[in-house]
Amino acid sequence: IQRTFSIIKPDATKRNLTGKIVAKFEEAGLRVVASKRIQLTLAQAQAFYGVHKDRPFFGELCEYMISEPVVVQVLEGENAIAKNREVMGATNPADAAEGTIRKEFALSVGENSVHGSDAPETAAEEIAFFFSGIELVG
Ligand code: GTP
Ligand code: MG
Repeated sequence: IQRTFSIIKPDATKRNLTGKIVAKFEEAGLRVVASKRIQLTLAQAQAFYGVHKDRPFFGELCEYMISEPVVVQVLEGENAIAKNREVMGATNPADAAEGTIRKEFALSVGENSVHGSDAPETAAEEIAFFFSGIELVG
C-alpha cells in the first residue's frame, strides 16, 4: 500500500468540482486519508513548486495557485502514485486520455485542475509539507 499527495487546484475549487474529482479518485481505488481546504500564501506556492523556479511559467503558476483556495489531500492505495497520475491524465488537457480528470475538467496546461506527486520521495516530501503526523489517519 502506498500514499501520494494531491492538490485540487484553484480552477477546480472555483468551479465547485471538488466532489466530482474526489469521486474519480475513489472510483480508481484510491482512498482519501487526509483532506483540508486551504488558501496558499505566495511563499508557500513558490516553495512547493520550487523545482520549477527557473521555468518561464513559474510566476504565472504561483499566482494561479494562490488565486483561490485549494484542497490538499493524501490518497492511499495499491500503486497510489502511478494510479493517481493515470487518473489525472497528461499535464496538458489537449494530450490527456478520455475519462481522465484533466481531459474532463482542465481548462489549459496551466489551469489543469489537479496536482499529484510524481515519485515516492516527492510524495513523502509533499505530504510532510502540508500535513502533520496527527492529521494522518491510517
Ligand atoms: P503537477 O502534478 O502539478 O506537478 O503536474 P505535472 O507533474 O503533470 O506537470 P509539471 O510538474 O511539469 O508542471 C507543474 C505544473 O506547472 C503543471 O501542472 C501546470 O499547472 C504548470 N505548467 C506546466 N507547464 C506549463 C506551461 O507551459 N504554462 C503554464 N502556465 N503552466 C504550466
Ligand atoms: Mg509535477
